[in-house]
Amino acid sequence: MRGPRECLYYPDEIIDEVRQGNDIVDVVGQYVHLKRQGANYFGLCPFHNEKSPSFSVSPDKQIFYCFGCGKGGNVITFVMEYENCTFPEAVKELADRAGIRLPEAEYSEEARKKEERRAQLYAVNREAATYYYRMLRSPAGGVGLKYFEDRKLTAETMNRFGLGFANGSSSDLVRHLKGKGFADDLILEAGVAAFDEKRGMHDKFWNRVIFPIQDVQNRVIGFGGRVMGDGKPKYLNSPETPIFDKGHNLYALHLAKRSRTEQFILCEGYMDVISMHQAGFSQAVASLGTSFTTGQALVLKRYAKEVLLAYDSDGAGVAAALRNSEILAQAGMRCRMVDLRPYKDPDEFMKGLGHEEFQKRIDNAENAFFYKLRQAESRFSMSDPASRTDFCREAARELCRFDDDIERENYIKAVAEKYFIDAEALRKMVGSYALAGSTQAPVPVVRPAKTTGPAEENGEAKVKRSPGSEAAYRAQKYLLTWMLESPGLYRQVTGFLQPADFTEGVVRRCAEKFFAQSLQGKTDVASIISLFEEEAEQNEAASCFNSVPELPERAEDRERALRDFIRAVKEDSVQRSAEDADDPDSFGRMVRAKKQLEVLDKTKFTL
Ligand code: CTP
Ligand code: MN
Repeated sequence: MRGPRECLYYPDEIIDEVRQGNDIVDVVGQYVHLKRQGANYFGLCPFHNEKSPSFSVSPDKQIFYCFGCGKGGNVITFVMEYENCTFPEAVKELADRAGIRLPEAEYSEEARKKEERRAQLYAVNREAATYYYRMLRSPAGGVGLKYFEDRKLTAETMNRFGLGFANGSSSDLVRHLKGKGFADDLILEAGVAAFDEKRGMHDKFWNRVIFPIQDVQNRVIGFGGRVMGDGKPKYLNSPETPIFDKGHNLYALHLAKRSRTEQFILCEGYMDVISMHQAGFSQAVASLGTSFTTGQALVLKRYAKEVLLAYDSDGAGVAAALRNSEILAQAGMRCRMVDLRPYKDPDEFMKGLGHEEFQKRIDNAENAFFYKLRQAESRFSMSDPASRTDFCREAARELCRFDDDIERENYIKAVAEKYFIDAEALRKMVGSYALAGSTQAPVPVVRPAKTTGPAEENGEAKVKRSPGSEAAYRAQKYLLTWMLESPGLYRQVTGFLQPADFTEGVVRRCAEKFFAQSLQGKTDVASIISLFEEEAEQNEAASCFNSVPELPERAEDRERALRDFIRAVKEDSVQRSAEDADDPDSFGRMVRAKKQLEVLDKTKFTL
């Protein structure tokens, strides 16, 4: 763990100023569709795929937290996570947004190293791309060139996409990169080479045509490589690296963003995108060999209002298109389906019918909602009254998702008309489903297994902390959150607990700061989060103030729950100090703790 932000880039006051100059609801609202619910706003989490909103933003506390995946933090954390950038980069962006001038950054040693590493990863990728590019245009690349020509790509298209070729040798690129002075570990980390006992270090791609993948700023961040025939796997892709985030980048986005249209076209494959661009549809993009994510939907939303899905016309393509239309709709984007039949995919369509016909298909693209209903229709027998009723129910359930009254009403009318359903009856049905649904609004309940957030699952750096009981750790977070929510509580709790009772690491630092702030009568948890530089630590800090246990209704039961939390934390703390041979006062502590716990049982709390 890097620990708290002891190595400063910017003075704390500047960071506070930047934070205060950027209201978190405004900033998050640019990317996430937020709806007010009580004191907070809720929306669909941009960091994991979900159907019902568990992502919360608090305007009072100026923090966000996802009860589904555990991501959380202040406005700076949000920008770091969302833009996949470092702490100083996020501060810089937010300062620009608020018109605040930053002093020259004093980069910490570690931040500078991280930046340098990223710069080097970009450099390796760029060098590899150049190497593949030249190879395709050299005598050795003849087969690759022929492959692309057979697929009807022009030289201009090949250049625009920087297409390349990896020859049959299994270590030419490695040798080339080493010759340019790149170190082994860097080449491996960039994902263009792999290592095993038998072969040592070897190229990731060989005997494949190469599709470089670029980010919005035109930097090469990874590669896709296709076999020139029927071999398997058809495509190999670079792994995710610090600069290659597959959930927030799209193939050809750097070109599509310049197309100046309100509509983007989302395809399944690299070749589809390339054919579309060649045919004049430069607004086409694709996901990166992984399924389409909410993060990608939100990225698209920055550039376009509507997405046309041009997916394969087979079963798998239709299923993926339906799934992605949901993701897009939830991200607040309009979405329509392009019918490619009788062709399999956009690439074949272009070869068969060409630009003009495709434009017609775009103009006639079916609204994703009706497309979905039409798919549902086939599961019901519309002439049978019972089955027809079931279909109406399904339609009504689907209609609930429009939370704009006018939009919903328009859809109700359109559905009623299209399927000969009585509009009034349908409206009622929608109303009753909406009501039933609203009682399942997100209840902030902590899921115990996720105390360290998604970092753990992703195999990312987990936030380190000293050992102790899991239950006590959870109780520490509950208490911090509870004290934040009920300002009178702090004074009652400090009689029993001090920051030193909290587990060493993020939660201890949070407790120290929070206790200090509470003593002065003014808490500001968003500022506490900026004590940490690492995303995982910021997530953990945010979770300390968003851990709401399911509490009983009755006041005396709540009081008992509070005592249980305090006791759990105290006992764990005593246990830890007993195990700590270096603590000279461990015995004294134990005695004091025992007395405090006796008092605790008799103490009345006002909640
Ligand atoms: N894909 C992948 N790995 C595979 C197969 C597919 O990563 N083994 C990804 C690639 O990004 C590919 C996309 O899924 O572009 C769509 O797959 P497919 O339709 O099979 O590929 P196309 O791009 O249409 O390729 P081609 O026309 O060359 O067959
Ligand atoms: Mn294809």
